[in-house]
This record gives sequence, C-alpha cells and structure tokens, in this order.
Amino acid sequence: MTRRRQAFPALLERLRPECEAIVARYEQKHSALLPIMHVFQQHEGFVSPEAIGAVAKMLELTPAVVESTVSFYTLFFRKPVGKYVVQVCRGLACTINGAEDVMRMFREKIGVGHLETTADGLISYEEVECLAACDRATCGQVNLEYVYDLDEKQIDALLAAIRAGTYAAAPMAQTEKPERTWSVSQGASVANGGKSPGARGVQSPDNAGGIGDRSGVIMLDRIVDLGPSFYGATHERAVRESRDVVELVEEENAHANR
Ligand code: FES
Repeated sequence: MTRRRQAFPALLERLRPECEAIVARYEQKHSALLPIMHVFQQHEGFVSPEAIGAVAKMLELTPAVVESTVSFYTLFFRKPVGKYVVQVCRGLACTINGAEDVMRMFREKIGVGHLETTADGLISYEEVECLAACDRATCGQVNLEYVYDLDEKQIDALLAAIRAGTYAAAPMAQTEKPERTWSVSQGASVANGGKSPGARGVQSPDNAGGIGDRSGVIMLDRIVDLGPSFYGATHERAVRESRDVVELVEEENAHANR
C-alpha cells in the first residue's frame, strides 16, 4: 500500500469539517460534489479512488455517479499528474487560430505527448476541448489557470518559469509519483483507478467521448442500443447528419420559392 493510501483515512477526517461546510451551502447534498472533489484534488494532487469512494458515501451517491461526473471534466485528474498540468485547447476557435502549431510546439518543447508526464514528474500535458475562452484563442490552462493568446514567445516564457520554479500559479500537490502516461486503464475496476463500464473504449481519462475524442465514440452509443446503423465513428455521423440538415433546408427553401 502506498504512503498516500495509508494517509488517506487521516486526510479524510481532516477534510471532513470543510466538506460538511460545503454540503451545508446546498439544498441537495449531491450539489456539493464538484466543490468537494476540488478539495480532495487540492490535497492529493488528483482524484484518487479512495476520494471517489469517500465522497460517494458522504453524499449518498454511488461511486459510479461520482466517477462519471469527475471523468466528464478536464478540471479533474483521475491519476497522479505532474506538479504543473499544461492543457491546450483544441476546440474550433483555437484550431482556426493555430492550435495545431501551439500543440506541436508544446509537445516538442516539453518532450512529451498528449496525456503524458515528464520523467521528473514536473509537467503533464493534455489537449482538451473548448475551454470557453474562445475570444482569446489560442488558449490553454496551467494548473487550471487560464493562459491566453498563446504564441511561441509566450510558450517559451511559460515553460522557462515553470522550470525555474517561478511560475505564477502554485504547483499541484504531488502525493504519488506520476507514471509516464496518465490515461486511465480500460480494464481495471473503478476502485482500482479504472473507468466505469460505460466509459470504456474512450481514450482520454477525462473525456466522455464525442467529436473531439479521437476514439470517435459517444456515450449514447454505449447507453442506448439503437441498432447497428447508429454505431460507428461520431465524426462520420456528424458529417452524415449535417448533410441531411443541409439537404432538408435546401428542399424547404426550394419549396418556399416556388
Ligand atoms: S475553442 Fe478554444 S477556448 Fe473555445
């Protein structure tokens, strides 16, 4: 058992009053889920299986509900990560403004790829979906703090500050040494840091699927059995369906102009 696991019961008791104060702010207990998960992540540096179990009990939810909520957001890390987590947006506005180049520069300058951590455990790198700062594309986050209008000069300055220990955002807690990749195992049980059955087959630890996920799987395919014609890569379906919509609109316009 790791030292972190051994220390978890004491951490839980230490954080319990803070968690109870958060729960008291809401009409329904489950509304406290996200802020409480942030508290555990702040102290452990990631959302551990022990934290998922403890918070589920505290909020009277199943571990699967907690896990599925946490895995939806790129704000939570399901496995130990570096002291600095660099996330770069690969959404539409950022892509139009050069996100591909920004991502390439980060990968080359950090020396790791998507969902990887440097050997010294200093920096983890991830490419994420729209961060809701499209007006400042290309953008990203470092330890969940925004960085805007990214270009090579800014990337160099940012990485130099991280390496020198002078970066503006505080380092993440690191209670366990991160592995090279922090993608979540498909096969392991949730209790052992794996994904719940509904999220298996999706590559990113934080992505529930969809157009941005390279596996091209959407959760609906896994939940509702719509038959073989609905299965397949999401982007193919998006292309097919948008073409259907265009045809429909053209038909309606033609009809209206008659
Ligand atoms: S597309 Fe990058 S922030 Fe929206």
